Amino acid sequence: MSFQSPQPTQPQIVLSGHGLVKYYGDVVGLAGVDVAVRSGEALAVMGPSGNGKTTLLHVLAGILTPDEGEVWLVGERVDQLNDAARTVLRRRRLGFVFQDNQLLAELPADENVALPLMVDGMSRREAVGRARTMLAQVGLAAEVGRRPGELSGGQAQRVAIARALVGEPQAVFADEPTGALDAATGAQVIDLLVGAATYRGAAVVVVTHDNAVAARCHRVLRIVDGRVSESLGANR
Ligand SMILES: Nc1ncnc2c1ncn2[C@@H]1O[C@H](COP(=O)(O)OP(=O)(O)O)[C@@H](O)[C@H]1O
Ligand SMILES: [Mg+2]
Repeated sequence: MSFQSPQPTQPQIVLSGHGLVKYYGDVVGLAGVDVAVRSGEALAVMGPSGNGKTTLLHVLAGILTPDEGEVWLVGERVDQLNDAARTVLRRRRLGFVFQDNQLLAELPADENVALPLMVDGMSRREAVGRARTMLAQVGLAAEVGRRPGELSGGQAQRVAIARALVGEPQAVFADEPTGALDAATGAQVIDLLVGAATYRGAAVVVVTHDNAVAARCHRVLRIVDGRVSESLGANR
């Protein structure tokens, strides 16, 4: 009887794009991009302004439909779903963090985080309970009752991270999530986002100009003229 050393197991691919092409009229947004992100992996998307980073994020996240190519989420092709199905997909299976946190100013932090769960039909009591647990996990147990105007920029972005993660998404998308923060706060926020999301096994895609943010991700994809010009980092 012989023993074979076990093969290192690669976490499964959660999110992938194949041959993605997107035009805005005559303007090329994406010119043929292939990308795959595994469970627990954070991918930074970098590159010069106007070269297709946000377009790639929006196509992968079902916000834009590609003109060519395919998007797959956990074994299911999602780019051909109709608008209603994509809306449900975004709400149930994806999480989003934007540069300006897009919190509702009139709601306290816990209700901001609970809102996507309630929109999805969860009772207010259960949703707010989950929201508070999630806020505690991002270090904001004491701030659950504060409105966005009563929070620092970094705290508000942590609320946005809690909102993105509370529904246990399979993939999390962030477009310049630290763009409005100072360097030290931005580093804390990105560590929290990458740490909390990947701990839960989500795939993370972060568009950023910031090398310090990219250094906190597992892999970097550089997009120039709508194409992958470079792919760096360990395939963990
Ligand atoms: N809604 C739109 N209508 C027309 N052109 C767009 C639109 N969104 C993006 N573009 C163009 O597509 C290209 C890529 O844009 P984008 O993906 O936003 O780049 P990045 O995020 O890298 O700055 C740019 O030339 C941009 O002007
Ligand atoms: Mg952009």
